Amino acid sequence: MKSQRCEVLATELDEAGLGVGLSAGRRIHVADLLPGERAEVAIDHDSPHKPEGWGRVVRRLGPASPNRVQPKCPGWGRCGGCVWQHLSYPAQLEAKHARVAKALVHLGVTVAPVHPSPALFGYRNKGKYVVGLAGKHLVLGAYAPRTHAVVDTLGCKVVAPIIDELASWVRGAAEAADLVPYDEKARTGELRYVILREAKGDVMVALVVATGTPRVKLEQVANALSRHPALRGLVAITNDRRDGAIVPSGSSAQVLLGHGHITEELAGVSIAVGAAEFLQVNRAQATAMYARVAELAREAGGTRALDLFAGLGGIGLHLARGGATVTSVELDREAVAQLRRAAERANLPLRAIAGDAGDLSREDLGDPDIVVVNPPRKGLSDGARALLAQLAPPTIVYVSCGPESLGRDLAALAPAYRADVIEPFDLMPGTPQVETVVRLRRHTPAG
Ligand SMILES: C[S@@+](CC[C@H](N)C(=O)[O-])C[C@H]1O[C@@H](n2cnc3c(N)ncnc32)[C@H](O)[C@@H]1O
Repeated sequence: MKSQRCEVLATELDEAGLGVGLSAGRRIHVADLLPGERAEVAIDHDSPHKPEGWGRVVRRLGPASPNRVQPKCPGWGRCGGCVWQHLSYPAQLEAKHARVAKALVHLGVTVAPVHPSPALFGYRNKGKYVVGLAGKHLVLGAYAPRTHAVVDTLGCKVVAPIIDELASWVRGAAEAADLVPYDEKARTGELRYVILREAKGDVMVALVVATGTPRVKLEQVANALSRHPALRGLVAITNDRRDGAIVPSGSSAQVLLGHGHITEELAGVSIAVGAAEFLQVNRAQATAMYARVAELAREAGGTRALDLFAGLGGIGLHLARGGATVTSVELDREAVAQLRRAAERANLPLRAIAGDAGDLSREDLGDPDIVVVNPPRKGLSDGARALLAQLAPPTIVYVSCGPESLGRDLAALAPAYRADVIEPFDLMPGTPQVETVVRLRRHTPAG
């Protein structure tokens, strides 16, 4: 069936980074169409709920935007990863700023300019690859947008070059060992995903495999990779799930070579990181953001700090280094165990608690004078909001990767708190993602 066509002049960018323009009263979202550009578009999907559709460019009409630049990655446009590689960096920062300003307009507070990332390429210290098949060859890549077709992403310019290099070794070694790419539909095959992590030039590799993958094949991969001087560890993680989880929580890793962890540094503290724990991928910019959070906390006089959604403690360790006594709360038990060990070794006053932030109460946490929250993209749960209301700290610093959920959470906190600082940070150049740091001061007495 021939898809419906229309002409679209993009006037803005949406949260996913697509160009958006009106056609016959409908908002049409189009990949690779920048504001100011016009094109004939084929509609692939219409929303059944709203006057909105999604389409692709079939013919460009008129001049390109002055903000259009040449994408650097060979797989750009097919891999679906960095949807803004064709947008100049100043224009990316402007668009990120506009997204935060729109989501937080109700606060009536000026949003500071976005802190730019020190590096625009090679900044990712983690590579995640889906394994697929192209002809007879095993491919490491990513799903093409809206499909389960795997696009080869070797040659990616966004990961640290050593990650791309080792990914290419893993591909060759896995193919030589006859590892069969996993077929999501048929639920057959062996190798599903490959994760690589880099720290200080060292790399660890995790092979995520289906149950029954022959040990001898994994050992053959280990043998081939052992020749690479940067490799510090190789692990295998079994995953038979169908829900898209790459490393299901609670999975254990079988060490095939070297160590199951790599050593990172957070606030100058050495900490062991496995394949699964959450860690910001743009190390330099995350460090700048954590340092700013610690500075905002110090300025507010925060000495008894609570770090909710702590991960491996990027924020908590910076707060403790800045002189605060810290309680960190995190769901991932492995991350909590590593954070405890790291804080103990560095002799820092940081207590790490494993648990759901929404299940805790004042009895568990005492009386902090500053609470830092850094929840997942969907924002705070009802339980976490209730905890903040119960603790009623004089200062909250909210670090968010979801401007829209941040806007909703801050609206809920508005009767008691006023924002005095809003600073976005760009941790993912080339994408519409943006982190926002907001400091909130209590303006009503604690009840
Ligand atoms: C955006 S990450 C932030 C981690 C850390 N602050 C950092 O900068 O690396 C969110 C963290 O919240 C944790 N998490 C998710 N839901 C949680 C919950 N209900 N209670 C506590 N932690 C949770 C995740 O495991 C993840 O480590």
